[in-house]
Amino acid sequence: MGVCVSKAARLVVLVSGSGTNLQALLDASADPSYGARVVAVGADRDGIEGLARASRAGIPTFVRKLGDYPSRAGWDAALASEIASHKPDLVISAGFMKIVGAPTLEEFPLLNTHPALLPAFPGAHGVRDALAHGVKVTGCTVMLADAGVDTGPIVAQEAVPVLPGDDVATLHERIKTVERRLLVDVVGRMAREGWTVSGRTVRIGNPSGGEST
Ligand code: GRF
Repeated sequence: MGVCVSKAARLVVLVSGSGTNLQALLDASADPSYGARVVAVGADRDGIEGLARASRAGIPTFVRKLGDYPSRAGWDAALASEIASHKPDLVISAGFMKIVGAPTLEEFPLLNTHPALLPAFPGAHGVRDALAHGVKVTGCTVMLADAGVDTGPIVAQEAVPVLPGDDVATLHERIKTVERRLLVDVVGRMAREGWTVSGRTVRIGNPSGGEST
């Protein structure tokens, strides 16, 4: 059991809000066989439930507010340096409402979760935009982040129906139930099996072992 924990992939999770995706990762990583554990939680603002969840779990937290830095580049560098100090194997943007810049992306793989079926409805209002468009099916996407807004290679997706009478809140909650399960599944498999990226295709598992998404 101890050996398993010491080999667990180190996760730094970035949050901006309620942190229910973070909580799902914290809960999953209580089982050493999950293969990953959260070593730090970062935020771009104070006073959020995501940070409180981390504190309750005894996980170190840090806050880097964009407004505290003279430039975006300065904030990007400070965020990357703080992330690096926790030596992550994987960084996860779980409801982090900022684009993470090159200093982090060049050093660490960054997994992002989005509440829509990309490439449809990227950006900060994926649920609202899908509802406004009148789609009957939306969903969630877990992707590896690149320099764009929700444009990186897709790791996993799952569909969620839009029901009559849905508003943004009810639809987002239905999506988040699926999103948490998908994120936990993807992070665990990536941690345990590794992954490869070829162009836009992400495969989880050892190529010779035949595992794939
Ligand atoms: C998730 O739906 C995420 O995809 C979106 O914001 C939500 C965060 O939820 N960007 P939580 O903070 O994990 O509860």
